[in-house]
Amino acid sequence: MPIDADDIRELHRFEIKTLLALERLMKRYRWVPEDVLRRRTGLSASELEYRLGHLMNLDMVKSSSVPYKGYQLVFRGFDALALHAVSRKGSVTALGCQLGVGKEAVVYEGMGLGPVALKFHRVGQQSFQTVRRSRTYMPEYRHFPWIFASSFSARQEYDALHALHGEIAVPVPVDINRNLIVMTYIHGCPVVQATLENPADVFEEVVENVRGAYALGYIHGDLSEFNVMVDGKQAWIIDWPQWVAPAHPSADEILLRDVTNLCTYFIRKYHLDISVEETLERVVG
Ligand SMILES: Nc1ncnc2c1ncn2[C@@H]1O[C@H](COP(=O)(O)OP(=O)(O)OP(=O)(O)O)[C@@H](O)[C@H]1O
Ligand SMILES: [Mg+2]
Repeated sequence: MPIDADDIRELHRFEIKTLLALERLMKRYRWVPEDVLRRRTGLSASELEYRLGHLMNLDMVKSSSVPYKGYQLVFRGFDALALHAVSRKGSVTALGCQLGVGKEAVVYEGMGLGPVALKFHRVGQQSFQTVRRSRTYMPEYRHFPWIFASSFSARQEYDALHALHGEIAVPVPVDINRNLIVMTYIHGCPVVQATLENPADVFEEVVENVRGAYALGYIHGDLSEFNVMVDGKQAWIIDWPQWVAPAHPSADEILLRDVTNLCTYFIRKYHLDISVEETLERVVG
């Protein structure tokens, strides 16, 4: 079910309060007990029951009756808190259509000061294992690694966009809250959906951007024809949460994979006379 801006706009302040309380209490409980939630929100039993009923109808909260009556925040509730926060700040004033849904994110178009893209990161248990391996600290959300992993993923992408925009062609990051990043909207499509009139120029441009990013300390890590967008005037590189630094132990391997993906696509579809070795040389040279 897609995110509905009206549902979020119409949330009662007691419902926001309940979601916020659940978010905090999930650091301690697998299922937040009803009485603990009541104490934290200060709501009466009947008011809380009514608000939770509405939140469960919206698929923002889940309940369980064993081993005791308890509640959990789920992805849609977390998305709602993030969207509510960026709307209050004015970074987003309207939510539009869904642009894409990948393994680990849902992307919407929207409006802020101008057209924006909203990317809700949704990283689950499995990917979290990778995050955990590469970090030395333990997450706060012991029972709910997806909260930690999704926010971490959003932060990673935001940091890369922040460092790279202005230097290379990436969306400009506008705001971040929890698992959501807001960035400028690109009026184009992924290169895989385009038929390029000037593939050699586009390839050159992308390689130049990959080189620029590398020089600034960023290797994309998931470069492909799906994560390069073209708008008729220029090429953009999107989807940065899995970037690694050139000092990362697997940096060489990851960069090689990025360059190989890029070259393979342009060779296969446009028969360009390019080679992985030469391209790699240009990126790191
Ligand atoms: N800034 C943007 N402007 C316009 N469209 C965008 C923007 N960012 C993303 N999109 C659209 O959303 C789609 C998905 O975005 P993105 O590649 O960042 O995430 P994803 O591929 O879903 O994530 P994952 O790699 O985890 O599956 C893109 O293919 C593109 O069509
Ligand atoms: Mg992608």
